[in-house]
Amino acid sequence: MFMIDEMKKRKVGSVVFSPGISEFEMRKFCVLFGSFDSRLPEPLERFQRELEQAQLAHLEIEPLEETKEKEGLDELVQDNKQLAKKTYFDSLTAVSEVMESVKLRQAVSFRRAKRVVQSLIDQIMQDDSTLLGLTNLRCHDEYTYNHSVNVCILALAMGQRLGYTKQRLSELGMAALFHDLGKYHIPLEILNKPSELTEEEWAVMRRHPIYSVKELLRLKGIHELAIRVMIGAFEHHLNYDLSGYPKLAHKRNLSLLGRIVSIVDCYDALTSSRVYRRVAYTPDQALQYMLGQSGKAFDPILMKIFVTAIGVYPIGTLVLLNTEEVGVVFSTSPNPDKGDRPKVKVVLDSSGNEADGPVLDLSETDESGRFRCEIVKTIDATQYNIDVAKYFCQQLWTTVSLTSEATR
Ligand SMILES: [Fe+2]
Ligand SMILES: [Fe+2]
Repeated sequence: MFMIDEMKKRKVGSVVFSPGISEFEMRKFCVLFGSFDSRLPEPLERFQRELEQAQLAHLEIEPLEETKEKEGLDELVQDNKQLAKKTYFDSLTAVSEVMESVKLRQAVSFRRAKRVVQSLIDQIMQDDSTLLGLTNLRCHDEYTYNHSVNVCILALAMGQRLGYTKQRLSELGMAALFHDLGKYHIPLEILNKPSELTEEEWAVMRRHPIYSVKELLRLKGIHELAIRVMIGAFEHHLNYDLSGYPKLAHKRNLSLLGRIVSIVDCYDALTSSRVYRRVAYTPDQALQYMLGQSGKAFDPILMKIFVTAIGVYPIGTLVLLNTEEVGVVFSTSPNPDKGDRPKVKVVLDSSGNEADGPVLDLSETDESGRFRCEIVKTIDATQYNIDVAKYFCQQLWTTVSLTSEATR
């Protein structure tokens, strides 16, 4: 992402390496690329000239094609946002359908779910900010459909950072979407109990990974995908140090897929308010807590990748700015050095009135090189009764009520 950002500054669309390229040429290219001042006019032409002078025979650069006019681009962004919303709700329906067939003991079909995961992947690859914003959607369905879709989106965002192919992303997405499939067997009184669970109730709750695997074993013809989904379901409550549940008879390493799902599952659980825990962690509190568990509950390298994938201030975080305005994080910076400087949409003005304010880029500096705006602290959206998801999805609640009606 950093490299893409730097290429854009130089108006470079692609770099082509031909067979036979030498280490010397690579080094020379890196030096020229790194020392190039992209603030001067005509960056591409100057860069091309420098490469020609250096006589790098096995290396070529191609210009960045700006295909869409500014106006067309805005429309495209709008269309993408609409599409992201539709896919989010299609995913909810797909999960509820599968859960329903589990309940009625009908044959489970993954066909529809596979299709929606495909669309989620396509959209995440284009622009992940709207979908990540939608994971802040907090409605309390009985069977955690929302949670399943959120875990899927977060897992895909991580898989993308890990350079997964579409095929592997699809397996990861499906495993994440159905990690809690077995929860259908847990009585609602336990699942939605407003107080602490008793030891007996916990024992029932801890069985849901096994229930998921049992359900998946009923599928006709165990294929590769079903096995991946089983692994995700079985391992998602096992910790990196192999504590957690279900208890293992033999110690063995957890799969990469399982380690990813366990991180994103925990993050979504912590940041959502549940029946038994009305006040959720703010995204940065959740990250801080989870980083404390790095190496114990979670794979330390994957934890680092997770933090860079969703940013120090993840999309949807409510922040107080030094201008005394309150904003919601809209998109994170692709540049890891600026991970703490996202784009923020102002939602409350300095006197605390609701405002449809501008989107501020906190990485922007003024003429003297000072940042224009700073984040003072994060704010708990539930305390201020601010529904963050509505900034990513208007008319949200009408759609949600229709969806949950349909899935009942
Ligand atoms: Fe679970
Ligand atoms: Fe879960």
